[in-house]
Amino acid sequence: MNAFTSHKQFSRLLYTSALDIGHTGERPEQTARKIAEGSAAHNRLSDLTGSLVFVDGAFIQILEGPPDEVEKTFERICCDFRHVDVRLIDFINVSERLFEDWDMACLCEDKDTSLALRDGLQEIRFLVGINASQAMLQMRNLLDNQSIAGNARNSTAI
Ligand SMILES: Cc1cc2nc3c(=O)[nH]c(=O)nc-3n(C[C@H](O)[C@H](O)[C@H](O)COP(=O)(O)O)c2cc1C
Repeated sequence: MNAFTSHKQFSRLLYTSALDIGHTGERPEQTARKIAEGSAAHNRLSDLTGSLVFVDGAFIQILEGPPDEVEKTFERICCDFRHVDVRLIDFINVSERLFEDWDMACLCEDKDTSLALRDGLQEIRFLVGINASQAMLQMRNLLDNQSIAGNARNSTAI
């Protein structure tokens, strides 16, 4: 690499956590969607992108962008009382984003979720425990499939 070919470095982080159901009277999926919407608004200002899965009360989130912004934001996320049991699964440097078009996409399970999406979300939950990079690719694939089906818009919840 020389002065003319300097590449941007991004951080990409994957963690899991569990919704703290004790603190609100809302339905769990309502809380999850609100979190995703608020996150997207914050992330837009911090040049962050990513995806939030919510399935069976569990969050699986990918956050990517400038390393200092990813770190600062994850520190805030760890202190958030709306979830518990935050477990960092993967934290790597990458040269390209996986979710460049999403400030924070949300793949949330609720009562209207199709069987195909439910299966996809369960598969991500399974993969995250055994192969982080496969889980991340599966999140991207699922979003692409939802977009093709007309269910996804950039930067927003599905
Ligand atoms: C599961 C989960 C995911 C979150 N993801 C993000 C995120 O991607 N970006 C973000 O800025 N805040 C995210 N938040 C919210 C932060 O924890 C925090 O409430 C928010 O950044 C506002 O922080 P502030 O009140 O210190 O300004 C998330 C919270 C939870 C519970």
